[in-house]
Amino acid sequence: MKLGWLSDIHLNFLDDASRGRFLESLSVHPVDAWLLSGDVGEATSIVGYLQELAREIQVPMYFVLGNHDFYRGSIRGVVAEVASMARSSDRLAWLTSADPEPLAANVAVVGDDGWADGRLGDPLGTPVELNDFYLIEELTGHPRAELVQRLNRLGDHAAARLGPKLEDAAERHAHVVVVTHAPPFEGATWHEGEISSPDWLPWFSCDAVGSAILRCAETHSETRFLVLCGHTHSPGQYSPRPNVAVLTARATYGHPVVQAVIELDGSSVARAA
Ligand SMILES: [Fe+2]
Repeated sequence: MKLGWLSDIHLNFLDDASRGRFLESLSVHPVDAWLLSGDVGEATSIVGYLQELAREIQVPMYFVLGNHDFYRGSIRGVVAEVASMARSSDRLAWLTSADPEPLAANVAVVGDDGWADGRLGDPLGTPVELNDFYLIEELTGHPRAELVQRLNRLGDHAAARLGPKLEDAAERHAHVVVVTHAPPFEGATWHEGEISSPDWLPWFSCDAVGSAILRCAETHSETRFLVLCGHTHSPGQYSPRPNVAVLTARATYGHPVVQAVIELDGSSVARAA
């Protein structure tokens, strides 16, 4: 089976014609399903873009949301809208609110939006700020210490949602594909060929989700985990333990691409360009 992977396509940076051409181009890939690791639009456009994607593809799409998908809105509002849309779609599955999905006899996909949770690096001292802190209602207007606590909680909630799904999937399948937006390990926070510095790490990694993945991978050492993430816009690979491989997506605003077509042959998971 073949899985197409998209991440950080940021369709709001394209005009209508360019967006149409990109969506049409997806059909040249004969995949059995699409995986999408977040950052498709903003709060006011995310549902419309997901519906456009659903109309274009002829196969299921398993997606998570990224931080940009909440811009100029609220987490609460976007979650409600996207959950409602996904419930009524027979093609789109929002992994954050979905059970593990079997893709083949020995492969399942699970996922969660995750959230860069302000734990790694230097969250209190860094001068780096994200637009998240000005454009997402729940993150706006807080002193740094309170902001970091809010991010900690978002990461904890993501890990609490994902942990039981990972366990369930790993008990039943030899391969588990995990889709999430923020890199869940420091070693996966690729940015322009380097691992992110302590100034960027708090906003570029979800430590809580990484811990949940590692706990499950240690318990299920025979299960292989392929983690697909985005957010930092630079490609890279990382393996925190022998049965966990993490791929971080490349991305350029205004130039969305298909990250990869991933082949599952029943006994292994291989990435094709
Ligand atoms: Fe992005």
